[in-house]
Amino acid sequence: MYYIPTRLFTGQDALKNNKDYLTGLGTKALIVTGSKSAKINGSFDDVAQILEDSGKEFSVYEGIQENPTVESIMEAREFGRDNVCDFVVGIGGGSALDASKAISLMMAHYNDGWEYLYDTNKSNDMLPLAAVPTTCGTGSEVTGVSVLTRTDLKTKKSSVHKLYPNVSFVDGKYLKTAPRSILRNTAMDALSHMIEGTIHTKATPYTRMCASHGLDIWRSCKGVIDGTKEASEDDLQSLMDASTMAGMTIAQTGTTIPHALSYPITIGLNIPHGKSVSYFLAEFVKAMNKEDRDFILTKSGFGDPDELNEFFKKVCEPDEIPLNYREIAYEELCSNKAKLSCVPFEINDSILKRIAGI
Ligand SMILES: [Fe+2]
Repeated sequence: MYYIPTRLFTGQDALKNNKDYLTGLGTKALIVTGSKSAKINGSFDDVAQILEDSGKEFSVYEGIQENPTVESIMEAREFGRDNVCDFVVGIGGGSALDASKAISLMMAHYNDGWEYLYDTNKSNDMLPLAAVPTTCGTGSEVTGVSVLTRTDLKTKKSSVHKLYPNVSFVDGKYLKTAPRSILRNTAMDALSHMIEGTIHTKATPYTRMCASHGLDIWRSCKGVIDGTKEASEDDLQSLMDASTMAGMTIAQTGTTIPHALSYPITIGLNIPHGKSVSYFLAEFVKAMNKEDRDFILTKSGFGDPDELNEFFKKVCEPDEIPLNYREIAYEELCSNKAKLSCVPFEINDSILKRIAGI
């Protein structure tokens, strides 16, 4: 089974060339975004212009922080309801897009509390949602995943609901002004999605097709990611496309051990998501079956897992994770049977400890 109910437009001026699919979502938009970047990279102006030209009103909620909390979702929901919005446009990186999904869901269930996000007995019905990614890692524009910070649990937890955007517009030009650190961290996140999705027990020929082509594109951008090549417009579109294909992979499979290990690291040490995941990638690749390992390394353009790790160190400049945080991550992973059961190779305690770095 392969299922993504999102209409996807990619390429230069994806929004402008397909604006009816944005304006047709409702009568008044709630634009959900982070702080300044959407205004700097032009994506906010593109959305606002299209809405204004079509006579659609909109309200802007721009308070989404990195790793959005459940509390912030509820605050944005109130704002959206107070302003009588009937559709949502998420603009930004993974945090803004994931938040926009949860807000769309909660706006459609106004009488329910935040627990709705984690209640498997409730419906996925949500307000119509458009997504405009401005980073190249999350793939949130084509996944049903909404990862939120649970302050009560001191970690990140995805909503149990499948929350797909109705339409997504993937335009590489929004990467032009992205800080290099964000471009690099998010590109490593996309790589991890393709690596984890490739070996996942839910992988199929169709998810592997997405990961395989995404890795080909990602490999072609390595020079841009490590700063040895000036990015052309085509390169920026390629980085976006690789990220979207990585998203199309994990939309079906989900993620595995490196992502599970990363969440307490991100929350506890405030380390960006893509960087947190990448700490664990090389040892994870080493633990794979030879066939999968060779496929992934060839496709991503690395001779061996250590070379992948050197690339990570070069582009993300990571500090050492304190041992107690690695232990917390390991313990949390050990209690997450779902994540552990989705790797197809042998996992014992010593392999897990090696991946966690303890
Ligand atoms: Fe990720």
